[in-house]
Amino acid sequence: MERGELLYEGKAKRVYEIKGNDDAYLIAYKDDATAFNGLKKGQIDGKGVINNRMANLIFKKLEEEKGIETHLIEEISDRETIVKKVEIVPLEIIVRNIAAGSFSKRFGVEEGTVLKNPTLEFCLKDDDLGDPMINESHILALGVATKEEIEAIKDMTMKVNDFLIDYFRKADIELVDFKIEAGRYHGRIILADEISPDTCRLWDVNTHEKLDKDRFRRDMGGVKEAYDEVMSRLGL
Ligand code: C5P
Repeated sequence: MERGELLYEGKAKRVYEIKGNDDAYLIAYKDDATAFNGLKKGQIDGKGVINNRMANLIFKKLEEEKGIETHLIEEISDRETIVKKVEIVPLEIIVRNIAAGSFSKRFGVEEGTVLKNPTLEFCLKDDDLGDPMINESHILALGVATKEEIEAIKDMTMKVNDFLIDYFRKADIELVDFKIEAGRYHGRIILADEISPDTCRLWDVNTHEKLDKDRFRRDMGGVKEAYDEVMSRLGL
């Protein structure tokens, strides 16, 4: 396996071609951390290693235990993973179980309020526009995804939520909210990108201590320690 051209550099990962393989990419996780649409920048030493490992182990469990197809092919080093060559659907797919972050701000709901049902939100992935919230009608009108794809994404996302709630609860961690991304692969919708403390809000079930990227966003310190704590509680 030989790494080819750098195709895309995202905020937390680089995506490379693989020489002689046109059905897969190599992704390499960085330690770079950004928040507020790139306005806040920093580094969390060792974060890339944790997110690579955690995302892959969660993806493996989602495949084995929930039958959800993911982009994962093989982890080849502590920061690098070979993944299926998906076309990312340009949506941030967010599920909220407990009010926090932009939801609390938008609707004036106190952070920590348990929502009456898991709430699904879509944002259009577009840095220049600041990832605006978008509804299903907009998604269809703009041709971002088809009706069938939206249904497949919704079905997959709620299954991911069910799995993650249980998975983290067993480690005494409350899943507040998370973001996933979907990809098109040979005509199917599959789970792509990552699931990690960068993309989830995770609170200690008893103390509500934050164990996720909000520690970076809010300058709380102890970011790496929190990510390590999640890894160790999950036994990873
Ligand atoms: O900021 P907001 O409350 O909308 O974030 C909801 C969830 O989506 C959080 O878990 C956050 O970490 C995640 N998210 C993300 N990437 C973004 C925006 C939000 O992973 N660009």
